[in-house]
Amino acid sequence: MAKRIISTELMEEDRKLENTLRPRTLDDYIGQVKVKENLKVYIEAAKQRKEPLDHVLFFGPPGLGKTTLANIIANEMGVGIKITSGPVIEKPGEMAAILNNLQEGDVLFVDEIHRLNHQVEELLYPAMEDFAIDIVIGKGASAKSIRLELPKFTLIGATTRAGMLTPPLRDRFGVVNRLDFYTVEELKQIVLRSADVLGIEIDDEGAGELARRSRGTPRLANRLLKRVRDFAQVQYDGVITREVAAFALDKLDVDKLGLDHIDREILVTMIEKFGGRPVGIEAIAATIGEDVGTIEEVYEPYLVQNGLILRTARGRVASELAYRHLGIQRFME
Ligand SMILES: Nc1ncnc2c1ncn2[C@@H]1O[C@H](COP(=O)(O)OP(=O)(O)OP(=O)(O)O)[C@@H](O)[C@H]1O
Ligand SMILES: [Mg+2]
Repeated sequence: MAKRIISTELMEEDRKLENTLRPRTLDDYIGQVKVKENLKVYIEAAKQRKEPLDHVLFFGPPGLGKTTLANIIANEMGVGIKITSGPVIEKPGEMAAILNNLQEGDVLFVDEIHRLNHQVEELLYPAMEDFAIDIVIGKGASAKSIRLELPKFTLIGATTRAGMLTPPLRDRFGVVNRLDFYTVEELKQIVLRSADVLGIEIDDEGAGELARRSRGTPRLANRLLKRVRDFAQVQYDGVITREVAAFALDKLDVDKLGLDHIDREILVTMIEKFGGRPVGIEAIAATIGEDVGTIEEVYEPYLVQNGLILRTARGRVASELAYRHLGIQRFME
């Protein structure tokens, strides 16, 4: 499937500014209020006891701030952070080396933790529980298992696919946080903050328009802000107003609800191919040519969240709002 400008996954164009735009402290981190309040308490308590923070799992759709929070936690705890990801670690020995090289209290951030292979994952169980691992030396009858004590550490895992985490791994996280889509108001604050950091001129209504079309996702809000700035500069006088934002986003195929042609295709499929009757996710996936997991965890959440798709016991249905939204769309074509 072609790259979408509204894809909330990390793109090359995001990479350069992602670090510049990342808030460094919990106070700078906008939204996710509940998660933030809880983390504040846990961090404070751990610091008072001079212990590492409990292992933390973040899950939720891409671009909502999981990596950002992992960095903030390390920063607030005043410890180092080692960053790796599930598919990168191929052998248990590699994980053992990483763990062994941590400093006392450090954060080990494992992105895409659902993609750890089974043997590596099993090594994590005793590491997380007892800060120790068992290493087998030698082979056959002379094989011996020795216990290696590790520095105490905090594992922070992040995943977009919480459903793919095994129960034994999930159960070893003391703190499990689900990140939700941001409200328009929160996204507006994020847009204003990013514009400030980057020296982009934008007014309140311009930020609101960007926020409404950014699918509840900071990464996308930041990406669209940068794209819209180009339009403001070349075709207007440089300031992002509502008019400029609306003009640029229409050009970029990001409609008033933040949908692009693929979202609309999913909705149109549900309405036209299946006559508006409840549809199973498999049928939608087959018609669109995507796998079920991707539809379920990448495309669908935003559509469900915004009431465009309703999930019923008998399947998914396109809502009244979806009909109206597409109706206007078709009328305009
Ligand atoms: N609460 C926030 N306030 C301000 N900016 C934020 C916030 N959350 C995320 N961002 C911005 O969004 C960008 C993407 O966030 P981040 O990389 O943490 O997402 P993620 O959940 O780790 O995504 P992925 O699942 O793709 O790894 C960051 O560079 C940061 O600039
Ligand atoms: Mg991340």
